[in-house]
Amino acid sequence: MSVLNEIKNPVYEEMANFQPFFKSYMKSNARILNLIINYILKQKGKQIRPLLVFLTAKLNGSVTESTYRAAALIELMHTATLVHDDVVDDSNMRRGFLSINAIWKNKIAVLLGDYFLSKGLLLAIKENEFELLKIVSIAVEEMIEGELIQIEKAKRLNIDEDTYFKIIKKKTAALMIACAAAGTHSASVNGEALNKMKIFGEHLGIAFQIRDDLFDFDKKEITGKPSGNDIKERKVTLPLIHAFNVCTKEEKIHIIKLLKKKKKSDALIEEVRNFIKKHNGIEYATETMKKHQSEALNILSSFPQNEANNSLVKLVNYTVSRKK
Ligand code: IPE
Ligand code: IPE
Ligand code: MG
Ligand code: MG
Repeated sequence: MSVLNEIKNPVYEEMANFQPFFKSYMKSNARILNLIINYILKQKGKQIRPLLVFLTAKLNGSVTESTYRAAALIELMHTATLVHDDVVDDSNMRRGFLSINAIWKNKIAVLLGDYFLSKGLLLAIKENEFELLKIVSIAVEEMIEGELIQIEKAKRLNIDEDTYFKIIKKKTAALMIACAAAGTHSASVNGEALNKMKIFGEHLGIAFQIRDDLFDFDKKEITGKPSGNDIKERKVTLPLIHAFNVCTKEEKIHIIKLLKKKKKSDALIEEVRNFIKKHNGIEYATETMKKHQSEALNILSSFPQNEANNSLVKLVNYTVSRKK
């Protein structure tokens, strides 16, 4: 059994029930939309966020109807942001297939992302899930801010470590926080446990994004997303920030000059990678990721030691060791 399936085991039934439920919320009456929606539904991704919702609900109590709505709403929002993110990042691959913008172009991708966002809003409103809507809306607001700060930093190339963490907390950890909060809340648990769950989600999300950023420096594209794209888009992530912090002034000026080039050859990308390697950027980012892994595990140790907790421990470990 794959690690991810093993992690899903305690909520196997819930994850199975979730699929048609999620699909029904994605569907539309417009024929042109359903063509694209069916394309998206063919490649369902890892579904880590719904998994996190179900596991945190089970950790703190039990899965309810509300848990299903939370899982569906969050996966919808996640799908919307991925469709938009590929437009923003000018990326042509997602989940091993051509991205929506690569096939249908940016205009359709923007509208499709908006469509999912509104489907999500409707889901929550129809079911009177106002607390859930609040939790998720805060996350979406943060995600957009994170993506905007990232664009601004890519223009000026003046990012430091603090800003990097600010960005990844917003663009990625915020939604993981929402998963943990919505899952816990759906099991009617609030107060101290809910707060701790949010901090857990934050550490998990930070570790998750550092891992994702590390993928960009792999030569092989095993993730189903293009590698080297962050360098092309001038996204300066932790390995490069670390290298900038320890290199000579001349080296930094040279690498910045490379990043500013409009057309970036494979050789140029290789040079940036070698610069990072020389200054142990990958090791540094890996160590930082592991600190957040430990923090997340530490929080779990203070929660009930049940099957869901076991799986969450595995999910944390999977996040930092995953291959896609
Ligand atoms: C991709 O998330 C976006 C990031 C926050 C890095 P996932 O890696 O969870 O994407 P899917 O849903 O499995 O494709
Ligand atoms: C993901 O950032 C954050 C989102 C809000 C989607 P990335 O741009 O690194 O995600 P991928 O690598 O395209 O999935
Ligand atoms: Mg991207
Ligand atoms: Mg990425």
